[in-house]
Amino acid sequence: MGGKKNAGLDRVLVLEVARVTEAAAIAAARLTGRGNEKAADKAAVDAMRRELGKVSIKGRVVIGEGEMDEAPMLYIGEEVGTGTGPEVDIAVDPLEGTTICAKSMPNALAVLAISERGGLLHAPDMYMDKIAIGPGYPAGIVDLDRSPAENLQALAKAKGVPIGAITACILDRPRHAELIKAVRAAGAAIRLIPDGDIAGVIWTTDTRETGIDIYMGSGGAPEGVLAAAALRCIGGQIQGRLLPSNAEETARAKTMGITDIKRKYNLEDMASADVIFAATGVTGGSLLSGVHFSNGGAETETIVMRSKTGTVRRIRTRVRDVETRFPG
Ligand code: FBP
Repeated sequence: MGGKKNAGLDRVLVLEVARVTEAAAIAAARLTGRGNEKAADKAAVDAMRRELGKVSIKGRVVIGEGEMDEAPMLYIGEEVGTGTGPEVDIAVDPLEGTTICAKSMPNALAVLAISERGGLLHAPDMYMDKIAIGPGYPAGIVDLDRSPAENLQALAKAKGVPIGAITACILDRPRHAELIKAVRAAGAAIRLIPDGDIAGVIWTTDTRETGIDIYMGSGGAPEGVLAAAALRCIGGQIQGRLLPSNAEETARAKTMGITDIKRKYNLEDMASADVIFAATGVTGGSLLSGVHFSNGGAETETIVMRSKTGTVRRIRTRVRDVETRFPG
């Protein structure tokens, strides 16, 4: 594949991106339960950037830690990788769930998606309204423009169950009070989560295991794009719409090339080309085990997926001598 422009995502990159999220997860996991979100996030960012520097790509960060002036590392537009190899775009969330990591609660992840150039929506760091379901349903059976009751009804009908058998996953936030009321009034159950809506969306793809049928509500727009990248690999449907909270956010979206702020994005708009998605568990949860330290080493669990083939891999890694391999 060499350095050819848009030569596609080589399958070898699957292992490379897993190494990157493993490194970030190990670095963040050292700070689990220390009550210091910033330190845990910084450790994950540093480790992710260091590891990305070893990957043979001409990478460009399109979703990162912020604008160049607010984030010293993994900022939007930063070039990463060795500078040789395919030209790719990268979306990172080195520590998804900074608070849950700081409080040692379940489901903190290190997340990365890599796509062919131009394959990921450049989502600004603001809220996005989201709705997502797993694979196997007819296209368009849920829609952001319909009411929660209509969406739940359509989903229940497609699944062949009463609404009472449907569970929605929603971030536990005051801003979701109306949504929560509406979902309960429609008769569905709700799994409220404290943080981490990338996992919330991914859970919909394995209802039998997770008990979650649908993800609803607003969360970070970057997390929306990362979740869309995951669904492009596993299957499922997601829609998102930016929710700027002031004029400054609307202006920022414009500078990032978004002309229609009210646009409803489908999966293919957010992840429009082949992607590889990887997530490593930082704290243990129902998606992935957390990092386990023992005898100077660490064990991690990573899920890596590739949209081209739809392959989903789970990788368990044992790293020896963590202090030397991943200096803190
Ligand atoms: P951080 O890791 O940046 O704290 O994000 C956690 C998260 O829960 C995301 O999963 C979600 O998209 C977003 O925060 C929701 O934002 P808020 O906490 O402001 O409701």
